[in-house]
Amino acid sequence: MEYVEKVKEAVKFLESKIEKTPKVAIVLGSGLEKIKNAVEISMRVKYTDIPNFPISTAPGHAGEMIFGKWNGTDVVLMNGRFHYYEGYTMKDVTMPIRVFQLLGVQYLFVTNAAGGLNHSFETGHPMIITDHINFMGDNPLMGKNVDEWGVRFPDMSSAYTPKLVELAKEASKELGIECYTGVYISFTGPSFETPAELKMARYFGADAVGMSTVPEIIVASHAGLKVLGISSITDQAIAEDLKPLTAEEVIEMAQKTGEKIARIFENVLEKLKGIE
Ligand code: HPA
Repeated sequence: MEYVEKVKEAVKFLESKIEKTPKVAIVLGSGLEKIKNAVEISMRVKYTDIPNFPISTAPGHAGEMIFGKWNGTDVVLMNGRFHYYEGYTMKDVTMPIRVFQLLGVQYLFVTNAAGGLNHSFETGHPMIITDHINFMGDNPLMGKNVDEWGVRFPDMSSAYTPKLVELAKEASKELGIECYTGVYISFTGPSFETPAELKMARYFGADAVGMSTVPEIIVASHAGLKVLGISSITDQAIAEDLKPLTAEEVIEMAQKTGEKIARIFENVLEKLKGIE
């Protein structure tokens, strides 16, 4: 079956289950699944029940879509995302974003656990993503363009919606949450980066490093979704002073910062009510 047909089948299935189109889709990164605790859940749909959907295998990632209301706003959460390092194609990794586009979702909020490249970053704080560097050597828009989904050469001059960056900054200030802004670079993983790679990434101008998000944001831009991305800075990815790192440490630290990201999102959702 063609990719377009696969996506449409998944959309049709979900449309038959939901009562209302969610306004905001939220992707929960490694260790950040507690964000779902803030949501009044109305329905859970296992990925295995959605036709043609990939299945998440990464640690700290469940495999379900959660529909519900967050402070009065209709939302859908991706509890478990797909990573390129799991062996999925870029099209698989970004299939949920296409599904959200076709469902009529307007906003995409993404989260991830990331290493801090910026020497001034301390662990345990969120970083609002202002831009990214695609260092994965692949792009989810490769191949024939689906014109009804977006243009062949999508603009990426403001992939991270500037208005949402501003709202998130305001939110963190109002809430008294220390929060950084910066550029996210994605490597494929699954190996963590060497000191030489981290040095290069910093030299390129990146502030945080991880293994996700970029493919999703490329597709979201193509799809015309408004994007807000927040990283949880889980460890210091400083070339000159690199300590051994495990995925468990990353997840543990992400779990500690999930609450802060949840409060920022909640505040931004409130602000968005005033805008539309
Ligand atoms: N690299 C380094 N540190 C990290 C990463 C990564 O990809 N993800 C979370 N912390």
